Amino acid sequence: MTLAKTVPEPSGPRKIGSVNVVDPETGKNLAELPVLTGSVGADTIDVRTLNGKTGMFTYDPGYTGTASCESKITYIDGDKGELLYRGIPIEQLAEHSDFLEVCHLLLYGELPNATEKDHFEKGVTYHTMLHEQINFLFRGFRRDAHPMALMVGIVGALSAFYADSSNVEDAEQRAIASYRLIAKMPTIAAMAHKWSLGQPFVYPRNDLGYAENFLHMMFAVPCEPYRVSPVLARAMDLILILHADHEQNASTSTVRLAGSSGANPFACISAGIACLWGPAHGGANEAVLKMLEEIGSYDQIHEFIARAKDKDDQSRLMGFGHRVYKNYDPRAKIMRKTCHQVLDELGVHDEPLLKIALELEKIALDDPYFVDRNLYPNVDFYSGIILRAMGIPRRLFTAVFAVARTIGWIAQWSEMHTDPSQKIGRPRQVYTGETRRDFVPLDQRG
Ligand code: SDX
Repeated sequence: MTLAKTVPEPSGPRKIGSVNVVDPETGKNLAELPVLTGSVGADTIDVRTLNGKTGMFTYDPGYTGTASCESKITYIDGDKGELLYRGIPIEQLAEHSDFLEVCHLLLYGELPNATEKDHFEKGVTYHTMLHEQINFLFRGFRRDAHPMALMVGIVGALSAFYADSSNVEDAEQRAIASYRLIAKMPTIAAMAHKWSLGQPFVYPRNDLGYAENFLHMMFAVPCEPYRVSPVLARAMDLILILHADHEQNASTSTVRLAGSSGANPFACISAGIACLWGPAHGGANEAVLKMLEEIGSYDQIHEFIARAKDKDDQSRLMGFGHRVYKNYDPRAKIMRKTCHQVLDELGVHDEPLLKIALELEKIALDDPYFVDRNLYPNVDFYSGIILRAMGIPRRLFTAVFAVARTIGWIAQWSEMHTDPSQKIGRPRQVYTGETRRDFVPLDQRG
């Protein structure tokens, strides 16, 4: 089965003008730099010739104002709170699509027709099993190891088992690796859960849908049949759609940087998983639930918010704020609605954490500290409440995020390999350390 299809290739931004770098003392024009534009969003100044023309670099810690690449995959309008996957609004995909369709859209640029959908689903389904020897790798981990430690280790180790899809120069091998990673991530995440419980691994089933299969591997036991609730399977499918891709966020940029050296896809995704783990990024969903549990009750909310505002206190309102969104994260709106649906389905009507989260959001959004800084709920604020209600342990939340984001990482990694302008990523620095000085022998040191 030939899996390789055409991944839309970057076409190069369009030049619309130029800006001059002028010496403020002499008025001399040091450099003329092109201004580039895309199909939507901010124009950019092409600084690739700046150092050659002026000997200077740009300085941008955290890349807050830097475009690291051209991409056709995802677009965010932070001011409007808009998120588009290949131009389609996340709200429409959440309502009408499913995760594997979204995977096809992100990877190949279009929603699949019926034939393409069947082919893609089969391509993923028949890659969900792992090489049997990988089971033994789990035995090297403590039962109480954090699931993300297992995800980083096991996914990185896949390159030792699937060397036939590790040649990044071969489009067919990149396609097979893409299918393998999309397909095997739920299997690995579920195995990490079973490993922590001391329960036997549950094999994937080819008769189940993607999200249904994941929940079945998570919660089934060999002793009796297990039926996944269709409402929970749909909720999981929706959570995967909402987390699938998000422009050049920290973990995607990590995958691109690792990929720029020619590293194999499994190593690149393992690097992305490691970056996602951080509490400022994908680890925030776990941190939100921990925060809600620590707040514990309505009457503690105001005290916690005061701490989150206090510069001398390390606390932050987890699940709030975003580097790009200066409006409500559209994913959080959908997640909040899904919360109510899942809790209703489960017959959970007085979920205290949801009540605290809703009150916390209400109070924060009336508070000038958060309003003045454009701090709104992000994707992580409500997701943990849903996952917890579905019976997923808090320490596995970020692993679920990694399962979803694998398609985004793979789509961005694949796009990078088709981009003629891409080269190994190698940022520069502003050096403020010691200038050249000589070695001092030990007996002459102070
Ligand atoms: C994800 O990039 C992506 O797209 C990521 C993501 C994706 O899909 O890939 O959307 C997923 O990572 C969502 C974010 C999850 N993280 C959290 O919820 C952790 C809590 N949020 C913050 O740590 C913070 O908001 C960040 C890290 C998300 C964004 O930080 P920025 O853009 O670097 O903003 P900043 O740290 O410069 O903050 C600006 C101001 C500061 O105050 P002042 O110095 O101006 O007085 O806002 C304050 C910050 O102290 N601030 C917060 C806050 N977030 C920012 N104050 C209290 N609580 C917060 N959550």
